[in-house]
Amino acid sequence: MSLALLVPGGTGQLGRELAASAPVGAEVHAPGSAELDVTNVGAVVEAVKTFAGTATLPPVVVNAAAYTAVDAAESDAGRAFTVNADGPRVLAAACSAHGVPLIHVSTDYVFPGDADSPYRTDAELGPRCVYGVTKAAGEDAVLRSGARAWVVRTAWVYGAHGANFVKTMARLSTTDDTVSVVDDQCGSPTWTRDLAAGLLELAGLVAGGKEPPPVLHATGGGETTWYEFARAVFTELGADPARVRPGRTEDRPRPAPRPAYSVLSGEEWRSAGLTPLRSWREALAAAFAEDGDAFRG
Ligand SMILES: NC(=O)c1ccc[n+]([C@@H]2O[C@H](COP(=O)([O-])OP(=O)(O)OC[C@H]3O[C@@H](n4cnc5c(N)ncnc54)[C@H](OP(=O)(O)O)[C@@H]3O)[C@@H](O)[C@H]2O)c1
Repeated sequence: MSLALLVPGGTGQLGRELAASAPVGAEVHAPGSAELDVTNVGAVVEAVKTFAGTATLPPVVVNAAAYTAVDAAESDAGRAFTVNADGPRVLAAACSAHGVPLIHVSTDYVFPGDADSPYRTDAELGPRCVYGVTKAAGEDAVLRSGARAWVVRTAWVYGAHGANFVKTMARLSTTDDTVSVVDDQCGSPTWTRDLAAGLLELAGLVAGGKEPPPVLHATGGGETTWYEFARAVFTELGADPARVRPGRTEDRPRPAPRPAYSVLSGEEWRSAGLTPLRSWREALAAAFAEDGDAFRG
């Protein structure tokens, strides 16, 4: 189904991929914060009103805007809360007022990260860092807004646009003989192209009147550690993966604690008839085949 899409956060790594992946014929408006600041209530209300009034195809808002600096958020909680919780609340209220469905992107950091099996969508939240707290508040605001709204949690996102772990590893592979990467945090790497395809599939469903469950998880399939992920990146770069050494979280304290285990169950996603994202390892190979130059920098 062709769609009209409004993508706040359209200059981010996911937002740019969403805009680029939209089907031919789609009407796409993907503003960055300079054009649409989600903390500016009047601007958000006006943007949704204009979008709803001018779309000639079924309209869907996909919110990719967020304060994503996880460590900086620890000392900038007010700003993180305004962008990650107040912004989505206002956006959802405007979507509700104009009858526009909203898909809101969230994160594995809403969970405590101490599980030993994949988090189901209805697992109890328990964020351990400011970023996670603000994202959980954003989810809550969206789900209580009265809008036709969906929260899609994802994790370990990388893509051609923007800074991310894959690009960091690619850079370090050219500057450092060996690289130490933590081997005691487990999760699921997610390529923006696959995530964007999934979000667009969901957008098509909800624009067509379907009502999948309000909270969904979409990550690359399978699970790994940052260490194994880094080794896979080195392999894709044609570098020796033995140059990656396993490290421990406790040896590298950071302002925001990181979840030890944040694998998300894709069961609800599959049950809703949505296409599961391919395995994280296959996706990484595809990402290098299609966008290798962007990762190598
Ligand atoms: N990256 C990950 O590993 C990861 C993991 C789990 C979940 N997520 C979630 O996935 C979503 C997309 O993340 P991403 O990796 O694409 O993040 P990103 O690359 O940091 O992009 C964030 C986007 O949000 C925009 N933004 C920031 N403040 C804003 C404001 N006040 N008003 C409007 N837009 C604002 C930025 O715009 P400007 O650049 O123009 O300022 C940018 O377009 C977020 O909801 C994030 O929480 C990400």
